[in-house]
Amino acid sequence: MKPPKTLVVFGATGQQGGSVINFVLDHPELSSQYKIRAVTRVPSKPAAQALQERGVEVVKADLYDRESLDKALRGAHTVFGITCTIFDDSAYVKEYLQGKNLADAVVAAGAQYFIYGTVRHAGEVSGGKHSAVHAFDVKADIEKYIRTLPIKSAFFTPSVYMQDFHNFFFTPKRQEDGTYVIFQVVKPDSVFEFFDPASDTGKFVGAILAEPDKFAGKTLCAVSTFCSFSDVAEMISKSTGKTVKYKQVSLDEYDQIMPTSHSRIVANVMLFLEEHGYFGGLKKEVEWSTSCHHEKLTTFEEFIEKNPFHLE
Ligand SMILES: NC(=O)c1ccc[n+]([C@@H]2O[C@H](COP(=O)([O-])OP(=O)(O)OC[C@H]3O[C@@H](n4cnc5c(N)ncnc54)[C@H](OP(=O)(O)O)[C@@H]3O)[C@@H](O)[C@H]2O)c1
Repeated sequence: MKPPKTLVVFGATGQQGGSVINFVLDHPELSSQYKIRAVTRVPSKPAAQALQERGVEVVKADLYDRESLDKALRGAHTVFGITCTIFDDSAYVKEYLQGKNLADAVVAAGAQYFIYGTVRHAGEVSGGKHSAVHAFDVKADIEKYIRTLPIKSAFFTPSVYMQDFHNFFFTPKRQEDGTYVIFQVVKPDSVFEFFDPASDTGKFVGAILAEPDKFAGKTLCAVSTFCSFSDVAEMISKSTGKTVKYKQVSLDEYDQIMPTSHSRIVANVMLFLEEHGYFGGLKKEVEWSTSCHHEKLTTFEEFIEKNPFHLE
């Protein structure tokens, strides 16, 4: 039997990376082919400790600290990496630095394969109209950079996180009359692509890990549910027994509802997605991506059942 290959996972304590680790650990073949090394900035945090308790090697590194990346990547064969959105004016520059540091370190370590969590380039897809969706454009530009490097690579694109309804992005807000409202700038019946990255990222990335050569140069597009914000409000209403409605608001109104540094970033993303879709024009690629794994994906109803909303 060949010795296991070292799979280094960035974002290991988070949703995408955590799902990759769970999938590999639970998979009879992948768990013997790959030995996981989980990267965190804080090895003492509970999520990192939990990984250690499951026999995963945990190492400390920071995407802004190249030396720490070189150490964490020693002996790496395959790397799964994400970069993290920064909610301030230097979002693009900072995230690009994370991606470049990581990609350069992966190549310098002599790794054989790099899987990166990317997104489409909103500026390019929209012909320059949506030029302020930095959280998307930067990942697409990091992907472009990785493609120039002397390493086999594949890419994974999750669509809108269902989890965003549990955090400040789309969370239902209590009103004086006891009902709840989800506020966003998009139309009530516009349809979006949704995905549960914590449960399902590993299903896609696992397919790449099982057959890396088949996926070299390819991007897997991940979506499980197509629905509108009104549909989501109705699902949350049904599950909680509370009245939850969706309300479209103007950009200025949304600025009042969200912390300022986040509101325009989120609103710009949603307006781009409303016009072009997460995978607009890539219908065949989405179908192909779905056919590349044999796992059932989490529907929005299942997500809500697993992660209930506690509206008090
Ligand atoms: N929200 C959406 O709808 C959506 C959709 C598609 C893509 N995305 C993108 O997904 C990415 C986030 O992925 P996720 O949801 O899997 O992560 P997450 O659950 O938000 O967790 C963030 C992870 O990144 C690690 N991390 C943060 N800063 C780091 C740094 N400087 N160096 C090393 N590691 C760092 C954290 O590790 P430690 O804290 O343990 O160090 C943690 O494991 C973002 O770029 C976001 O734009 C989001």
